[in-house]
Amino acid sequence: MYLTKEEEKILSGELGEALQLAMKSVVKVGDALGAEKLVKITNAHISGISYKNIGDAGLEFLEDLVNKGARVSVPTSINPAGFDLKSWYSMNVDRDFYAKQMKVINSLVKMGIKPTLTCTPYFYSKIGFGEHIAWSESNAVLYANSVIGARTNRDGGPLALFEALVGRAPYVGLHVDEGRLPQLIVDFSNVGRFIFKNGFYQVAGYITGKIAGNRVAIVDGLKINKAMVSELKLFLAAVGASGGTGLVLIPNVSPEYKEDNARGVEERVKVDKDDLEDVVNMFSAKEPEAVVIGCPHLSLGEIEDILRFVERYGGAKRRLLLFTARANEKILGRLKGVLSKNNVEVYYDTCMVVSDLRRYVSNSIVTDSAKAAYYLSSQGYSVKIMSRQSALKYAVGREHED
Ligand code: F3S
Repeated sequence: MYLTKEEEKILSGELGEALQLAMKSVVKVGDALGAEKLVKITNAHISGISYKNIGDAGLEFLEDLVNKGARVSVPTSINPAGFDLKSWYSMNVDRDFYAKQMKVINSLVKMGIKPTLTCTPYFYSKIGFGEHIAWSESNAVLYANSVIGARTNRDGGPLALFEALVGRAPYVGLHVDEGRLPQLIVDFSNVGRFIFKNGFYQVAGYITGKIAGNRVAIVDGLKINKAMVSELKLFLAAVGASGGTGLVLIPNVSPEYKEDNARGVEERVKVDKDDLEDVVNMFSAKEPEAVVIGCPHLSLGEIEDILRFVERYGGAKRRLLLFTARANEKILGRLKGVLSKNNVEVYYDTCMVVSDLRRYVSNSIVTDSAKAAYYLSSQGYSVKIMSRQSALKYAVGREHED
């Protein structure tokens, strides 16, 4: 791989041990993927920082990097952690777990990383079309590539951290024009109206990920546009849960979608109602006890919409938990009274998948997110998937009303 003089210097260890270690890994990955050079990045986002996921080995790895003098060279944010940093006590968090999770976060902060603790960096980091970035949360990668037109591969957490340290990523895959060309079309034209009516964008996303695998797909026939941010988030998160792709091209959404794109693509897979029903049936727990919403993290606007809905029905009758970024705390603080009057619980810094729901909620839940349904099922939870509207009706005890 071609390296600039500065990159050679980093690799030789002239600029310190931490940078050398990071550069070695970035170059190794680039070589394995056939990259000809590295590209400078403007932003990084790191997933997999919950102590529940990385354990002692992950914590030691981060502390070792800090001891070696690691500092990020671009603005860098991080994914949710294992609990809400302010109300962890009400989540029945184990003291040892608390202490270790805090050490993980402190190590990251010592490297110059912002403790944003959210999986929706696209709401808070100013990134633009064509910008090269290094993100490692699949829903965020898909959003950045498919909605904003920024360029990032779907990196693993440690690689994104190394890229943040050296400020570069291998120039390969979704960073280059050829890597962004579609290889198949997933066709929802037979069920586009049904998906719209039933709010099944997460189900459509799950099917898209399964069909696309690692390939860039055009998503055709879906009734969706750029203003439908909640639906896009649910759709893209589900694509990332069931498949390995980091980019889908959606008409009226993706800045790189052109009708010409579809011309050379030979493979077209049509989706029908049975495919959608199969996914819904996969997650169909009986009588779930609580409703969890916010995978990916909810925006302020989404929370306000949910609150209006719940208020209309006199408040939640079942436990209703919402997950969002700490950045929204100040404004939501003003709604504290009305949220608690309507039995709506808001959690920051964490989510239903990376925290231990069993310890503070239940083993049996409803969610509107196919990504959460997928991961919670794999952790042994009983999960039912519903549209957001139906999940909220369930929360307010009106599930039998049209
Ligand atoms: Fe975010 Fe947790 Fe879902 S990190 S995308 S809310 S699994």
